Amino acid sequence: MENIKQILERIGSATIGTQNPKIYRMPEYDEPVVVDCAVKSKLDYFGVPKRFKNSTWEFIRNNSDTGDKERMHKLAQIKEYSDNFKSYLKDGIGLLLKGGVGTGKTTIALAVLRNYIDKGGRGYFISAVTLMDEIFNIADFADRARFENKLKTVPVLVIDDLGAEGSGDMVSRKIEAIISSRYNNDLVNIITTNLGVKDLKRVYDARIYDRIKETCKVFNIVGDSLRKGVN
Ligand SMILES: Nc1ncnc2c1ncn2[C@@H]1O[C@H](COP(=O)(O)OP(=O)(O)OP(=O)(O)O)[C@@H](O)[C@H]1O
Ligand SMILES: [Mg+2]
Repeated sequence: MENIKQILERIGSATIGTQNPKIYRMPEYDEPVVVDCAVKSKLDYFGVPKRFKNSTWEFIRNNSDTGDKERMHKLAQIKEYSDNFKSYLKDGIGLLLKGGVGTGKTTIALAVLRNYIDKGGRGYFISAVTLMDEIFNIADFADRARFENKLKTVPVLVIDDLGAEGSGDMVSRKIEAIISSRYNNDLVNIITTNLGVKDLKRVYDARIYDRIKETCKVFNIVGDSLRKGVN
């Protein structure tokens, strides 16, 4: 087998060294050209989808049916959580917003996240479906590890639509690994889901709901869908 010296001699690099230093020049380029690529906005950076760019407490306040006392009471409690987010963050206390389709869960979760990032905090929003899609489709091992690591370490993670990511052992194990890792490190999760408690316990390892229950304020967001038709 060749040793390093033989390899250097064979490829003609024996001149490398202090006796025959090589001179390197910086390459010269033409004038810079404008490359038309979208600049990431602050909301893109935190994973906030375009559709939800207006999901703020102001939007919720301006569009809420004040006659619905039960809903208004829950919104007030979540707003209190949002206003005092920093202290909840210290204790690793998150939110579980569960309830039927279109009741405003994602909007509320994002209002909490927005309130925090607008004050300089760091967090990330991702739907459970996208999360799974990314994990199983990022081909490069290092890129995938970096992505998973980000989900496990970001101070605040919004997991939207937990349970919609599909079934299968591999899928639920991935979600469980992320939630467990964040639980072990006292990191805050804000979770929205259409699943009830029974289903959460059935789909994921029983310990996962137990962890969520221990570290999240739970709100049942009920009512008719707030989605309007096109006409
Ligand atoms: N307080 C509100 N008043 C009026 N409309 C609202 C309110 N909150 C949310 N909406 C609107 O209702 C629609 C559904 O909201 P959102 O996506 O937050 O519901 P969801 O509970 O997350 O639904 P899903 O269970 O399907 O994920 C959106 O178009 C949103 O803009
Ligand atoms: Mg939603």
